[in-house]
Amino acid sequence: MTRVVHSRADLEAARAGRFGDTAVVMTMGALHEGHLALIRAARASAKTVIVTVFVNPLQFGPNEDFDRYPRTLDEDVRMCEEAEVDVVFAPAVDDVYPGGTPMVTVHPGAMGDVLEGAFRPGFFGGVLTVVNKLLNLTAPDVAYFGQKDAQQLALVRRMALDFNLPVEIVGVPTVREPDGLALSSRNRYLSTEERTTALALSAALAAGAQQATAAGIRSAARAVLDRAAAADPPLGTDYLALVGPDDFLEVADDHAGDAILAVAARVGGTRLIDNVPLRIAAAHPAGGEKNGDEAR
Ligand code: PAF
Repeated sequence: MTRVVHSRADLEAARAGRFGDTAVVMTMGALHEGHLALIRAARASAKTVIVTVFVNPLQFGPNEDFDRYPRTLDEDVRMCEEAEVDVVFAPAVDDVYPGGTPMVTVHPGAMGDVLEGAFRPGFFGGVLTVVNKLLNLTAPDVAYFGQKDAQQLALVRRMALDFNLPVEIVGVPTVREPDGLALSSRNRYLSTEERTTALALSAALAAGAQQATAAGIRSAARAVLDRAAAADPPLGTDYLALVGPDDFLEVADDHAGDAILAVAARVGGTRLIDNVPLRIAAAHPAGGEKNGDEAR
């Protein structure tokens, strides 16, 4: 039986008498299979599972989709019931920001200024501030985040480390449609034609993942995005980047080791992101070893 609570007091009441580990999955609602993968991982690991549903105004820019972001709480609760979630915490803005717009916020540092942070100024400050608050409110032992939002996951991990937060942060692999499209609450904005164009994101990552070197990865992925720029409707790429997983800075062309190939692009009025983790082998005189095709 899933309990739905809206206030901090009711959340505490819902937890009273529950012993053992608590896992939290933070969401903005509009749940899909990607969220369910996080919830299933949480369910498998902890006695009590809390799912938070909160569309956080602090992480939306003035021209972003805060007002039209899908709000589907009844359906979200139904999915949580099926997934045997114990508590859905769906607070109002005043519960999360009792003092109004916060004066004190989390500053993400340099990793928050690149890629998503460069295109969405203030975004990661808003994300980390609300994640910090929701960790305080739900006091979990473990929190699950999707690798789909790889830069967010890296920043949350870094915040937990830098702030000595008593929580384990666990990443869960991206869930994809059979044709490669990464699941996202924003996919529901796409028309059929836009969805076809949007497949270029995962196709670019898959093309990159076939290559052996950083330079090869970048140019193979870029070629797919360039073709999609001429599609109808066209893809507008915000960035394609091959970065280190801990700092999100571009890796050198001769980089060997872990990296993340990340892309953000717009189709019609919808902005999508995707990424794939790669391990680039050290150059071998006998020729290229290929990365796995992880984006398909
Ligand atoms: O990934 C999301 O849905 C949001 O950024 C999060 C972590 C729930 C914070 O609002």
